[in-house]
Amino acid sequence: MELTGKVALITGGSNGIGAAAARRLASLGAHVVVADVDADQGKAVADEIGGVFVRCDVTVPSDSADAVSAAVREFGGLDIAFLNAGIGTGCTLGDDFDVEKYRRAMAINLDGVVYGIHYALPELLKRGGQAIATASMAGLMPTAGDPVYGANKAAVVALMRALAGAHPEVRMNALCPGFSDTNIIVRLRSTLEEIGMPIIPVSAVVDAFMSIVEGSGTGEAWFVQSGRPSEPFGFRNPPGPRAADGSRIAAAQKDPISIVLKEK
Ligand SMILES: NC(=O)c1ccc[n+]([C@@H]2O[C@H](COP(=O)([O-])OP(=O)(O)OC[C@H]3O[C@@H](n4cnc5c(N)ncnc54)[C@H](O)[C@@H]3O)[C@@H](O)[C@H]2O)c1
Repeated sequence: MELTGKVALITGGSNGIGAAAARRLASLGAHVVVADVDADQGKAVADEIGGVFVRCDVTVPSDSADAVSAAVREFGGLDIAFLNAGIGTGCTLGDDFDVEKYRRAMAINLDGVVYGIHYALPELLKRGGQAIATASMAGLMPTAGDPVYGANKAAVVALMRALAGAHPEVRMNALCPGFSDTNIIVRLRSTLEEIGMPIIPVSAVVDAFMSIVEGSGTGEAWFVQSGRPSEPFGFRNPPGPRAADGSRIAAAQKDPISIVLKEK
């Protein structure tokens, strides 16, 4: 795919999946804004690919706004917003529950995506662009080892599916990798190896990311798992209301909240 002239903003672009996506997009001709709290790595990635680094803490709304402004100022607009910054939370409930750890995990993994899309949306609308958020397999399945991570990643999946309906002019999708070869799994690596859990190369995660970029779908959550091609996860339709005689109700296809909000 030729991306010459396209502009991408990548949060968490200094390392791992974000940095690899930055390199791939730049190799296809895109201008990339690398937005991250890790300035040393971020500047190095930006310099390498002829992009721009912006120090951005995704938990701070004005930082997300500044990152979008940088894309417009430096490269004239925004076509791809990749909301990818994230952390493993290590936050347990019960005796060891730590409110600060919990709030920080939600702030980076969920608020960061909300703020990023909020500020990118006006620019994405101008150019018919797209937003992709990095969720996780943990957002598609129970994650007993890190329930708070599972919760904020499931929220990211739900957010992108809902935003796809709310903003049909901008493609909104989630990327859901399994265990991938980045800094986030450093503490897990030896256990993953011991139990025989394959670790996904970052290039495979970026392949899936590019399938989304190049595709046409919206409201999808693409899983990335070892040994199988990535594709949108097939959600089952949830049960809708039924009439007393058990027949379907036409209104179940409508979204009453949207109707009420439009009328106000
Ligand atoms: N590697 C995996 O196994 C895996 C699996 C599923 C999902 N993910 C998700 O992929 C995304 C990228 O992670 P990764 O695996 O490349 O890990 P990584 O640690 O290599 O990269 C994460 C990046 O996010 C940045 N970051 C952290 N807090 C930030 C903040 N407040 N503001 C801005 N940037 C911040 C870090 O500096 C880092 O550059 C994350 O959302 C992560 O949850 C990773």
